[in-house]
Amino acid sequence: MLPHDDNPLFATFARAQIRVERGEGVWLHTSDGRRFLDFTGGIAVNSLGHAHPHLVAAITAQASKLWHVSNLFEIPGQERLAERLTEASFADKAFFTNSGAEALECAIKTARRYHYVNGQPERYRILTFEGAFHGRTLATIAAGGQKKYLEGFGPKVEGFDQVAFGDHEALAAAVTDETAAILVEPIQGEGGIRAVPEVCLKGLRDLCDEKGILLIYDEVQTGIGRTGTFFAYEHSGAEPDILASAKGIGGGFPMGVCLATAEAAKGMTPGTHGTTFGGNPLAMAVGNAVLDVVLGEGFLAEVRRTALLFKQSLASLADRYPEMIEAVRGEGLLIGIKPRVPNGAFIEALRGHEMLAAPAGDNVIRFLPPLNVTPEEVREAMRRIEAAAAELSGRPAEGAAEGAAA
Ligand SMILES: Cc1ncc(COP(=O)(O)O)c(C=O)c1O
Repeated sequence: MLPHDDNPLFATFARAQIRVERGEGVWLHTSDGRRFLDFTGGIAVNSLGHAHPHLVAAITAQASKLWHVSNLFEIPGQERLAERLTEASFADKAFFTNSGAEALECAIKTARRYHYVNGQPERYRILTFEGAFHGRTLATIAAGGQKKYLEGFGPKVEGFDQVAFGDHEALAAAVTDETAAILVEPIQGEGGIRAVPEVCLKGLRDLCDEKGILLIYDEVQTGIGRTGTFFAYEHSGAEPDILASAKGIGGGFPMGVCLATAEAAKGMTPGTHGTTFGGNPLAMAVGNAVLDVVLGEGFLAEVRRTALLFKQSLASLADRYPEMIEAVRGEGLLIGIKPRVPNGAFIEALRGHEMLAAPAGDNVIRFLPPLNVTPEEVREAMRRIEAAAAELSGRPAEGAAEGAAA
């Protein structure tokens, strides 16, 4: 790595000194010859692991045909992917973007336009929740409301009101005649894998219906099978009017999508919104290939089975290391532990055992393996997590120590 002052990159990221050369499934190979078990998954992006043959074949075939034409022309891959996403969800309409934040921007604009074309332009405010993370554009840092991301970037974009996570009364009181929508992550990812209880999601749906406002889900991290269902809202059955997704939908290719019911999207008429790159043929080829796998027969059932094994194994580890692990959280393969040491120290110890995991708020460590991770790979991960827990507790690893990759 270049010394800080000589590095030509913006200093915005505190990067680990790991240079990855090649990936294969759940494994990453570094330029200095190490092999890491990758449970960071590009922060919930590599939904099918690295170099998945079906995705490689799809992007290679598309790359030799056509990369980009712009949205001035028809893009059959977009129509196909939109059809599949809408068939598999609450939605009737889709708009493709390059990232999660852009999908959120589209969701926010769609909600505001809905009220505008309904003759209520004063309804533009969006209610969000403390601890939320919706991206790094000016509007999405305002939506997320976190001081550390807002500081120094001028006035916060107007029109976002925040309420405490789980405070029903504060929420109901915060809805005014200017409220356009409620925006919520069904499970806060960056915020520390904090799930909104299913009954509360149903309550949000009822509140929105009662007040004539729209419900927007941010499923950038939870969507496309990550929690064991295609979208996380399916666990509660409370459908949104608008949903933003990204990350796993491209399996590593940068793309996102804003989905909406036809009614919610009715204000998004020609010229109201746009993108140069969003939905280009390369991205659509990969997105369709990801869905070939994720929507394939039995795939999500298998995700749920593997996730259960992982969660049970982590719960058993927490029982055996109560001085080290305070809690296990998550749904499907968005799963985490809350250690009793700083999460950075635990992640560092995992790296010593050649395993990668991602930090999250509330001192949580996120495990985000590919959705097609095998039970044997989960067992391998458990051996390494236990080895790290044992090392940090200063005692020899118990049951799973055998074969631990130290
Ligand atoms: C829930 C959620 N929303 C939005 C975003 C922003 O997505 P992107 O970084 O692709 O803009 C993220 C990224 O971590 C996220 O987890």
